Amino acid sequence: MTKIRFENHHYSLKSGESVLDCLLREGVAVEYGCKSGGCQSCKMQITDGSPTAQSQSGLDDAAKAQNHFLPCICFPEQDLEIARLGKENGNTLETKVLAHDMLSPEVLRLRLQRPDTYDYIPGQFLNLYNPDGVGRAYSIASQKEEPFLELHIRHVPNGKVSGWANTCLKTGDRVSISQPAGDCFYTPGNPKQPLLMIGTGTGLAPLYGILKDALHQNHQGEIHLYHGSSVVDGLYMVEVMRAIAEKTDNFFYYPCVGQDSVPKGIFSGRENQKALADRDDLSGWRVYLCGHEEMVIPTKEKTFLAGASLKDIYSDPFVSAAA
Ligand SMILES: Cc1cc2nc3c(=O)[nH]c(=O)nc-3n(C[C@H](O)[C@H](O)[C@H](O)COP(=O)(O)OP(=O)(O)OC[C@H]3O[C@@H](n4cnc5c(N)ncnc54)[C@H](O)[C@@H]3O)c2cc1C
Ligand code: FES
Repeated sequence: MTKIRFENHHYSLKSGESVLDCLLREGVAVEYGCKSGGCQSCKMQITDGSPTAQSQSGLDDAAKAQNHFLPCICFPEQDLEIARLGKENGNTLETKVLAHDMLSPEVLRLRLQRPDTYDYIPGQFLNLYNPDGVGRAYSIASQKEEPFLELHIRHVPNGKVSGWANTCLKTGDRVSISQPAGDCFYTPGNPKQPLLMIGTGTGLAPLYGILKDALHQNHQGEIHLYHGSSVVDGLYMVEVMRAIAEKTDNFFYYPCVGQDSVPKGIFSGRENQKALADRDDLSGWRVYLCGHEEMVIPTKEKTFLAGASLKDIYSDPFVSAAA
């Protein structure tokens, strides 16, 4: 039976159990979010033993070299000694709230002072921690040149982090964030490639960051962005997006609402269905999918079946902790 040594205790893994599930079953207080390798909030370090390849997927080279791993997707066959990643090794940083305002009744725009040396690419995500130390992933919508980190946080009723961020946090407060992570961002090198972006709700945050980065890097291929919501208020940046489309020849914006009756200028129906109905061949396209996992996961398969190469499909499903 595989054993885990953690903070001077030994724990035995049950068959098919992840390291995270084993610790939680034993009542150990450890941090986690999505439990599926997507948010990196459970990240720890192996101090004796080797990480499985799967448990390091999505981590950057520096983290891999330091034996960081994701316990929620680690199913080891050999004994491991593991440790938390603390502030002392640079995993979390303190920063200050510069601005706290609402983009819609449900979506908060939070601007945090960008810590010195904070190196990220728009579209990556960071973990924001509430005062109890619970962390959740939020995508970065700002640009590298800006002195702040911009997050769009939808208020989930009773949400431990989004609820606190929307209702308790205020300008001037100090908060903890993690280093940036994730690989859903713009990569230069193929400036004429057409880009298809599909997002639901605050899935617009990473897409907005990626779009502005692509335009800043003079992307010349067409960029088509479909933003969907179940209600009109959920299209929380419709005027901003329209203004970018008006002044940018190669950018096209499609706000979609999943209702039969919609205001003028809004498309009726689901964003992913419209995007795929508008074009049936995605050979040569690069695709970005962000937001609700029930949109992102099936659309990834559909865009692949429509001809997009797997290496050209970037996605961030917003998997929640409880899910
Ligand atoms: C890579 C990544 C990037 C993300 N980026 C963003 C972002 O830019 N903006 C953003 O707003 N969110 C984003 N999320 C989602 C975010 O991390 C949290 O899951 C979300 O804010 C809920 O956390 P919470 O602590 O407020 O709620 P929790 O305390 O975790 O949940 C409270 C209750 O609400 C339910 N719940 C949780 N999430 C949802 C949901 N989406 N819809 C309905 N019910 C829900 C739970 O099941 C639970 O019952 C991202 C997630 C990932 C994995
Ligand atoms: S990556 Fe492990 S909990 Fe999200």
